[in-house]
Amino acid sequence: MALLWAVFLGLSVAGCGSDPPQKKSSPPPSVKQGQYIFRTTGGCGCHTDTGNEGPFLAGGRSIATPFGTFLSTNITPHPAAGIGQWSEADFIKAMRHGIGPDGTRYFPVFPYPSFTRIARQDLRHLWAYLKSVPPHPRKNKPHRLGFLFRWRFGVRVWKWINFSPGEYRADKGRSASWNRGAYLATALGHCGECHTPRNLLGAPKSSWYFAGSEDGPDGELAANITPHRKTGIGRWSEADFSWFLETGVKPDGDDVQGLMGEMIENGHQHLTAADRKALWEYLQSLPPIENALVERE
Ligand code: HEC
Repeated sequence: MALLWAVFLGLSVAGCGSDPPQKKSSPPPSVKQGQYIFRTTGGCGCHTDTGNEGPFLAGGRSIATPFGTFLSTNITPHPAAGIGQWSEADFIKAMRHGIGPDGTRYFPVFPYPSFTRIARQDLRHLWAYLKSVPPHPRKNKPHRLGFLFRWRFGVRVWKWINFSPGEYRADKGRSASWNRGAYLATALGHCGECHTPRNLLGAPKSSWYFAGSEDGPDGELAANITPHRKTGIGRWSEADFSWFLETGVKPDGDDVQGLMGEMIENGHQHLTAADRKALWEYLQSLPPIENALVERE
């Protein structure tokens, strides 16, 4: 039965096809705007091996997950070692559909289930920015995965069940800033990739949306960020949240650690005040979920 479902979903997803052709009127991509988009994602920190002072975006960072250890890839524009030979269309396909130029189906540790929601024009800006960073010759190494997860064929099945490609669609019943916040959280900032717990198949549990996960990247605990007063961030003020994104300091004075800290340092600290406010508006609107993962005062 489950298999039938998978096939059915697979066919309907496959039917969604590729992106609509580029409208003539869209402005040319801009490196500067691309840099801002890059920062809203948290600076693609997984692709820099920060702990070992690795070169910017040249990959090689190991990311432990319950399914095995992945080694991030070189996304500098180096023609042989990086993605220098990709076209803009290749990049958009990878981000929208999780498929590489040679047909490789990416493991969803590359968060394309969120990135698929990024608007086409923003992807074009981001691509312009990525092409502008210094190329680096560091070669990619194979992932070290549990035996069940080694086959990329498994990714097909995973995608049939869990993945629906397509840009973020605004909710017309909500304000423009709420929609901007939702777009920042669910597409660019991909907050749910770490802050939503996953089931045994590695799919985010939708009823635990943003309620925190014990199996965050590298086994780090990613706290409950729903507005639940006791177990989430319901007692934070908007100013607390804004300060947190600017500095990495929490309301209790603790510094944020790990990947979240890197995302803030390489990305979120540069968000505009309007974008920080929009993110807050969206997070505050989520259903509060009780999930005590960390001690709260
Ligand atoms: C790559 C994984 C990852 C992504 C993506 C991510 N986070 Fe986090 N986040 C973490 C981890 C891990 C922690 C725990 C760090 C700590 O407490 O020192 C954390 C902590 C936090 C905290 C502090 C919560 C508390 O009570 O201590 C907030 C708030 C937060 N993240 C918000 C966000 C928002 C908003 C986004 C999206 C814009 C986001 N995170 C995206 C991994 C992530």
